[in-house]
Amino acid sequence: MLPIAACASLLKRMDPVMMELLAKALEKVTFTMGEMEGVPLPQDTCDAWETIHNFQAREDDIIIATYPKAGTTWAQEILDLIMLEGDTLKACRAPCFIKIPFIDLVPIKPMKSGVELANKMESPRLLKTHFPIQLVPPSFWEKNVKVVYVARNAKDCMVSYYYFQKMNKGLPDPGTWDEYFSTFMSGKAPWGSWFDHVIGWWNAREKHQILYTFYEDLIEDLEREIRRMAKFLGKDLSEEAIEKIKQHTSFQAMKDNPMTNFTVLPKAVFDQSVTPFMRKGKVGDWKNHFLVSQNEVFDATYKKRMEGVDLTFRDLL
Ligand code: A3P
Repeated sequence: MLPIAACASLLKRMDPVMMELLAKALEKVTFTMGEMEGVPLPQDTCDAWETIHNFQAREDDIIIATYPKAGTTWAQEILDLIMLEGDTLKACRAPCFIKIPFIDLVPIKPMKSGVELANKMESPRLLKTHFPIQLVPPSFWEKNVKVVYVARNAKDCMVSYYYFQKMNKGLPDPGTWDEYFSTFMSGKAPWGSWFDHVIGWWNAREKHQILYTFYEDLIEDLEREIRRMAKFLGKDLSEEAIEKIKQHTSFQAMKDNPMTNFTVLPKAVFDQSVTPFMRKGKVGDWKNHFLVSQNEVFDATYKKRMEGVDLTFRDLL
């Protein structure tokens, strides 16, 4: 059976009752944002801060760290397949948000929190976080875990995040594009400032085991980036495995794959009639959204914030 067909048949066996309960529970919830050390985060994450902060990493954990919408899910699927040496059937064992716990997240019951899922998992674990470097649980560094960081140019990130906040009922409504532009630029989007995030992780990369990668590089040459990630994880993959990973993580394959396209979540969580999670998967979509005046404001802010930082982003012009 083809892996995607296998995914679909596996999903049929997933618990529809749980999804129904989740949708019902969400109808009664009003979503609120809180703040941790000045970083806007969902209130539920702030309420569970002690548990999240005290999360116990293990030496062989691999963390995928990103600012939201930088290509997290893409990196998750690539890294899972690298660890599985290209076994695409095993990669379909569960939806990406179950097999790779998101430790920042405290969703509504009956869904389990990221920490709960991670604590129950066997090693080696792949884990996801959107935290800026200063909010990461200290055990990550005590255990010297490996981190793959994915950065994406802010303009495309902003557009992707705008649509995501429209369809994700667990995040605040973004308002108009113009309103959202101001929210994002002032660092008020959930998980805070894009600038602080990409710079914070960049500056930490020599102190810790961090592989800093770019969405634009994945788009440019997926095979090259798969090889880089595999080398970082100490995995010597066959050519056949690399080819399989490449095929399985193409935009179209992930858009068609129920384990990566989030269609398993009910409309009350991700309303994909507003916009699909796997939306465009392109570099430069910002050109279809930024007004000339917004572009000027962005470029001036970018110049100021990135001054003296030896980190450059492509595709901003
Ligand atoms: P767009 O909204 O620009 O299409 P995250 O996983 O961090 O939430 O990021 C989601 C973004 O990554 C979306 O961007 C999505 O389409 C894109 N993406 C996910 N998988 C991809 C793939 N295989 N190839 C290219 N882009 C991908």
